[in-house]
Parts: sequence; C-alpha cells; structure tokens
Amino acid sequence: MSRNILTAALLLSASFIATAQPSGATFDEATKVFRLDGGNVTYAFGLNSRGELQQIYWGGRIAAGDRIPSAVPEREWASFDSSYTNTPQEYAGWGAGLFLEPALKVTFADGNRDLVLHYDSYQTASDGFKIVLKDIDRKVFVTLHYGIDPESGVLARSATIENREPKPITIEQAAAAAWALPPAHYTLNYLTGRWAGEWTLTQEALHPGARVIESRRGSTGHQANPWFAIQAGDKPDENSGEVWFGALAWSGSWRIVVEQDQLDAIRVTGGFNPFDFGYVLQTGQSLETPIFYGGYSAHGLGGASRILHQYELAHILPHRVGGGDSGAPKPRPVIYNSWEATEFSVTEEGQIALAEKAAALGVDRFVMDDGWFGQRKDDHAGLGDWYVNPQKFPHGLKPLIDKVHALGMDFGLWVEPEMVNPDSDLYRKHPDWVLNFPGRPRSEQRNQLVLNLARPDTRDYILGFLDKLLTENDIAFLKWDYNRNWSEPGWDQLPAAEQKKVYVEFTRNLYAILAELKKRHPKVELESCSGGGGRVDLGILQYADEVWPSDNTDPFDRLSQQDGFTYAYTPQIMMAWVTDSPHWLNKRATSLSYRMLSSMQGSLGIGANISKWTDEEMTSAKRLIAAYHQVQPTIVQGDLYRLISPLNGSEFSATETVNRDKTQSVVFAFIHSTQEGRKFPRLTLKGLDHDANYALTPIEGAVEKGTPAIASGAWWMNHGFDINDNFRGDFQAAAFRLDKK
Ligand code: DGJ
Repeated sequence: MSRNILTAALLLSASFIATAQPSGATFDEATKVFRLDGGNVTYAFGLNSRGELQQIYWGGRIAAGDRIPSAVPEREWASFDSSYTNTPQEYAGWGAGLFLEPALKVTFADGNRDLVLHYDSYQTASDGFKIVLKDIDRKVFVTLHYGIDPESGVLARSATIENREPKPITIEQAAAAAWALPPAHYTLNYLTGRWAGEWTLTQEALHPGARVIESRRGSTGHQANPWFAIQAGDKPDENSGEVWFGALAWSGSWRIVVEQDQLDAIRVTGGFNPFDFGYVLQTGQSLETPIFYGGYSAHGLGGASRILHQYELAHILPHRVGGGDSGAPKPRPVIYNSWEATEFSVTEEGQIALAEKAAALGVDRFVMDDGWFGQRKDDHAGLGDWYVNPQKFPHGLKPLIDKVHALGMDFGLWVEPEMVNPDSDLYRKHPDWVLNFPGRPRSEQRNQLVLNLARPDTRDYILGFLDKLLTENDIAFLKWDYNRNWSEPGWDQLPAAEQKKVYVEFTRNLYAILAELKKRHPKVELESCSGGGGRVDLGILQYADEVWPSDNTDPFDRLSQQDGFTYAYTPQIMMAWVTDSPHWLNKRATSLSYRMLSSMQGSLGIGANISKWTDEEMTSAKRLIAAYHQVQPTIVQGDLYRLISPLNGSEFSATETVNRDKTQSVVFAFIHSTQEGRKFPRLTLKGLDHDANYALTPIEGAVEKGTPAIASGAWWMNHGFDINDNFRGDFQAAAFRLDKK
C-alpha cells in the first residue's frame, strides 16, 4: 500500500530540490514544523493552532524541498469526541477530555488531575531536538527528547518530567513516547510466550479498541516482549510493504498500548507500566522515562528486522575493550556451559573433565553454571551467599580457571545477584532486604525471594560482592540470571506514598550496578538470562553482550523461537546451545548434525554432557564448530532473510544471511518432516550483488547434481539452487556458504 500522510494534499511541494537533504533535525519557523530525516525515513510534527505538539508524518523519506504544512488539529466528532482527543498528540497529558491513552497522568497536591501540555520552547540537539512542554497553568514541565540515526532512520524518543510546583505531584502514568499512524488497515506483530516457550510471533489485524502488551512482573518477562511492528495491509509480509516498528528500552514493568481510535487512526503509547505505578516528584525533582525506539521500513517485516539488527549492533550493544572498531561488537565466543550436563553437581574434577572435552572441540569459552557457591546443592539454598563452596572447590576457583586457561579458553561464571534463598546466611542476617510488605506473607518462587535493589544497602552489597569476585578471579564473562518475578513489591524504608518508586529505582539501580561493573572491569562480558528469555530488551542490552533466549534447547522448537526472536533482536546476541538427545523437554530425538545446525543460526554454544559423547560425535561437532568459526560474522551480523518460515506447521524452513559488503552468504535449510515425498523447495537467494560471482560450498549436506560451482548473484537470486534429492526425512538439516570470487 502506498501510504498517504495525513492527507496527500497536506504535502505542498513548494519547491523540489533534487539533492538529498542531509540527515538531521530542522525546524521551519514559518510553519512551526519540526522535521527529522535519517536513512529512508522522515518524521515530522508541529505546533498546532492551540499550541499543542501534533504528529504530522512518519514514513518514507520525503524530498528536502517538500515543505510540510503546519499541523492542523483534527475536528471535533459531534459533541462526543473533542478535538483534543481526536488530534494525534506527540505527548498528551490526561485532561481536557482525553479518552485515549495519555502519555502523562498526574495528581497535584490539591487533588487536581487535569494536565494539558502546550509547547514552551525547543533546542536543537546534535541528532534531534529537545522540546519543552508545559501545563497550561501549572509548573509541570516535560522535555521531549528526539534523536534520529542518520543511517537507519531509527528514532530515539524519551521524556523528562519535572515538577516546579511548590508542592509534590504524583505521576500515575508516564510514557516514553506516543506514535501515530493515519486510518488504514494494519496488521500488528508482537512477541509473546512463557517459560520455555518464548518468542511466539503473534500476528493479527488491528481492530477498534486497544491491544495491551505488557509486563506487570517487575522485569521484562517471558509473557510478552517490549517490541511491536505494524504493517500496512491485512496480511503480514516478509519482503514488501510498509512497516512501523518500535522497541522499549526498559527492563522493569512496562506497557505498550496499541489503539485504533474512535476515528480509526492508530496510536501506540509505551513506557512505564501504569499498573500499581505512583512516582512522587517533590518540588524541583524530575523523572526520566526509558527510551522508546521507533523505525520504519518499506521492505516488509524482513526489512524492519534488518534495520533493527544493524541499529542494535551499531548503537545499543556494548562495544567492549578489545572488540575492535569495526562498528560492531565482536562475534561471541563459542561457549561450553555445564548446566544441562551437571545441574547443581559441579565439582573441580567434574568441571575440569568437561573443560578438557570442550577444548578438544574447539570451544572458546568455558562457563560454569549454578551450584558453585554457598550451600547450593539444589535450588533450596545458597542464593545470596557468594563464597566458593569449599566442599566442591577446596582450593577456590583458581585451579579450575587456570586449567581452563591452559586449555586455551577463557572462563565464565553463573551468578544470580538479585535473589536470595531464605535458607542462606544473607537472608538470616538481612531479612528486611527483600521486596515485602511487613506483616504479609513473602511468596516464594523456586524457593527464592527478590532482593530489593532499590535499597542503597542491597545495591551496595551486590556491587561489592561482584566487584570482589571479578577482582579476585580471572573471569571473562558472567551469566547473570534472574529466576523469578516479583510478588509483594513493598519498600518500607520510604514513606507510604513514595513506596511505589520501587518500580523505577530497582531497575535504575540494576543499570547502575551494571554500568559500574563495566567501568571497573571493562573487559568482562555479560549475558542477560532470566530462566531463559525473561529479560531481553534494549535497556539491558546497553550492558549485556548476549542473552539466553530460552531454557528450551530443543533444536526443533528453537527454529521457531529463533525466528520470533530475530524479528526484534540480532542473531549476534542469540545464544544457542547444542544439548543432548532425546531432549529433556519434548523427549524428541534428533541427530547431532540437526542440533548443531539449528544452533549455528545464532551464537553457537555447546550445553550437552560431552563427557558421554562418542569419538564420532566429537569429530563431527569439532568439524562444524570450525566451519562455524569461519562464517560466524556473516551469520550473526549480516542481513537476515527469512526464505521459508518455520511457522504455522511448515514442513520446511530456511534462512539466509548476507554480510554487509555482500562478499559472503550463509544458508540454512531444515526439514521438519517430509510428507508425500515432497522435495525441498528450490532456494532462491536474496541480498547478493547481482553482477558478482559467488562459489557455493556445502557446510553440511549437498546440492543437486548439475548445480554450478560458481555463478552470478543474479543466478543464485533468480534461478536459485536445489538441495540434493536425498534431503528428505524427519528433522533434517543442511547448510551452505556462498563466497564472492
Ligand atoms: C535458569 C537458566 O536459564 C539456566 O540456563 C540455568 O542457568 C539455571 N537457571 C540455573 O539455575
């Protein structure tokens, strides 16, 4: 669909200038229009006749000479829907008869709850604007921050709310930003799930009313992820069509509301979850919201995810010391993790035996998981007591770490800093450190309670023990786990009216600890894990180099999980372990080759009990790890094309990734279960250089006889290639690389 902006007539072409307008921010004094240009995107908003900031346009880049006319408020709809509610405001206060989702809702000390934000002033920042709004009467100021990335056109929006009233105000609802689209048919895409079942891509037509995507859990959660993509039209399309997408950078309770309003326009409002929210601002205090990123692609959902991946690599993820200056973080080391092999039964000898086998496979990093500390025999005790268990490691961690280094790997360790078992020395000493309402039960999940990180003493304890651990031991990597959600979220150190600040301060202190650790130990890398994918968002990804997408390591389930995951997040951070067969969750038996190739779609790890692997399995895994190392940068940092979707019970699936300079491409193909003798579909590739020649080499599997060894990009993209006719059966996998000659 070709998208009209508010109306095509609104776009007056005062003059056409052939040269592209440089990216950045411009303000047209005459029309009072603010305009942001970057990549293939233009975003525009302006002051309307009432002094409100109104969204005008978000979509494909328009010409530099196109003069965008002033914002015109939508008219009243009879006497029921006021102009204020019908007008797409950039950041609407709740007041003046607003019936849609407000960006900001406050209660003043005198009980007044009416807030109407009008434009006050603006400043041009390096990549955008800072625009100050103020209530029509009271001294509540809101600074809206806008930035646009010149390459991708991804916008970064957030707000700072400041109270200059003589008395406190309570913020009951604060969004980072609101986005708007004009009336049309749209399809909404979002990610939902549960433990071991994260990353389900849910796709549905937008209808009148609101679709609420949220977490009330105190952290990001498995149930939904703070990402959305809205596609023009009635059906999702991977390769074509307009898509507007957004991702919220917040690891606490969050909410994104996607509304089709009373006049069929779309509003998307996202930020702190207003459920149980209440943030008191004393005179002179302010509250900063998280950042809500937003982007646009004219090339379907595939185009949208490619933009987001490159943006995450370039602007969100940490670029560690030693990571090079290639504009992207270095590809993740291939890891071995002991969890599925040993669970809590870790010992010095056992881990050394696994490390020897891991090194023989060509693994880069050995990670010891849960069980090494305190009195941790199972999940009933020990969390909070971060000393090395003397029975399991009589000489501390040093002998194991030294051995791992001698084997040519670096060493990583599991921690779960925000949690405590009631059966621990820490809890016996500081029972008041957990989230709780005094006198009420403390609900345990996995026999553990959540430490209240909002408390300065708890924050200092966590920072202190982690700093000591990293100072005393040569640790390259922490797997930072978080295995339950909140209950009874009380913070009784503060006056009753202020206790709900816990929703903000907990997450802020988590970020502060991570930032400080990064400062003190700049080489240490981090994984965000929360019983799998319960804490994956663009907030934590400022600090975490990778994430654990799911505890479900079944290689077949992973294909659709990985498909869902990559709509929002780059394969660079998508850790994927090869584990044992039959799988513990689904009891499904699969070949090592299938398991390896499923994991090679992301950042590869081995999580099996390799002490039991046969020589043949060792040889085959070693060969595939070596092959993976050769093409890993293309797989994890290239442009991802979903050639055949694994969703909706598909018999087949296939992906292709092309590196940024189009010199290499890697293709994965999977068969779920061949039916009626059906041949695997011919693979026609994407994203290659038409005129260049590419040599095709199998990594696993074979191509059909007669397939040219070398052909042009045009050949591979138009004619394509067939996998060998023997490629049939259940849970089969093949992989190929194409290299520019
Ligand atoms: C949950 C994680 O997702 C697992 O990988 C493992 O680290 C366990 N916790 C350990 O308790």
